[in-house]
Amino acid sequence: MNQQVPFGAPKGVPDYVPPVSRQFAAVRGTLVAAADRAGYAPIELPVFEDTGLFARGVGESTDVVSKEMYTFADRGGRSVTLRPEGTAGVMRAVIEHRLDRGPLPIKVVYAGPFFRYERPQAGRYRQLQQVGIEAIGSDDPALDAEVIAVADEAFRAVGLSGYRLELTSLGDAASRPAYRERLQAFLADLPLDEPTRERARINPLRVLDDKRPHVQELLADAPLLLDHLSPESDDHFREVRAILDRLGVQYVLNPRMVRGLDYYTRTTFEFVHPQLGAQSGLGGGGRYDGLMAELGGAALSGIGFGIGVDRTLLAAQAEGVTVGDPSRAQVFGVPIGAGSTPVVAVLAGRLREAGIRTDLAYGGRSLKSAMKQADASGAVVALVVGDRELAENNVVVRDLGSGEQWTVPADEVVAAVTALLVD
Ligand code: HAM
Repeated sequence: MNQQVPFGAPKGVPDYVPPVSRQFAAVRGTLVAAADRAGYAPIELPVFEDTGLFARGVGESTDVVSKEMYTFADRGGRSVTLRPEGTAGVMRAVIEHRLDRGPLPIKVVYAGPFFRYERPQAGRYRQLQQVGIEAIGSDDPALDAEVIAVADEAFRAVGLSGYRLELTSLGDAASRPAYRERLQAFLADLPLDEPTRERARINPLRVLDDKRPHVQELLADAPLLLDHLSPESDDHFREVRAILDRLGVQYVLNPRMVRGLDYYTRTTFEFVHPQLGAQSGLGGGGRYDGLMAELGGAALSGIGFGIGVDRTLLAAQAEGVTVGDPSRAQVFGVPIGAGSTPVVAVLAGRLREAGIRTDLAYGGRSLKSAMKQADASGAVVALVVGDRELAENNVVVRDLGSGEQWTVPADEVVAAVTALLVD
């Protein structure tokens, strides 16, 4: 940060300013549009909630809840927390508005900021942006496949190709306890340090995610949940994979996947982009069988994902993909001399009404300086109005690509520009 500037953005919080902000918005819009095409309705929820919602919903033992929440007492003494993720809030709203008693599944999409007090680094922020979807109230494995396919389609719509989808099943309430015991017994025999032993006692699955190479070596023969699923969970997962295969969605199985949130059951997945370095998770999600009941609602299962918009933009940059139209305008107005600006402003208004993105030069610039701005704007057409055009009620329409130009009566500008743009 510049020493002369008294304030900077809070640590670990990215700003998106032009021109990159245009790309950011295009990425977010593209992700939301993929969900919209699959019938997900927008849901707008508060960015802060009762602290208890996350403690109950996400799990007290997770890093997200125990170490990373922005929690504070409001002026009325209530403990509130800036939402660290979106699923718990969606469940709260579904229960509160009794959507769980209406037609199922409920399908919603959200976009916005989330807050986690993490150690900031490239691709890991304290205010992160997600686009997420939740589909609640059906156990149909085709719904699991849909949620995964929507994410895959969203990434492809952004233009990405270098990511991979990792898939596993975390089983159901019936398959977990026996597996947990088996894993704990295996871990008890390993020469692990005391903090890791403690973790093995509280949440043995987390130990599988230990990144240290010597621990990974010790874990090479650890029993895997995927090999100990209940027959129902096994069938469900088999069906999900069969549908993904038919949809042509490619995946690799990762039976060691550990998600940072406690509510996952059965189908669980992550999209990983190897070009992103340490923070390679583009997005992830899965099923959550017990969550709604845990939060006081009906015993409905659901499945969803959260895609990191910040990281999706970083991935697009790493792949050299331009998302959306980077130009400021399609048409740029160049008024030269006193009296031309209102005429060009009126033309700009007409073009905008016709759906053509239009900007113009302000401040009485010279022809040279205004044309420079026109080029920099990314526009394909410039409209020049000088004293002569003003007197004759004409406009010079210039094709900025070829350099060709025509003098056109002011009334015909919209038609002339439209013809040039469709060319
Ligand atoms: P999550 O895996 O915690 O899942 O986050 C989803 C995505 O948000 C990550 O894959 C990553 O791209 C992005 N993300 C998370 N933390 C950060 C950070 N500190 N900086 C930048 N990006 C970040 C959830 O939040 C679940 N609610 C997803 C879900 C919905 N599961 C079921 N439904």
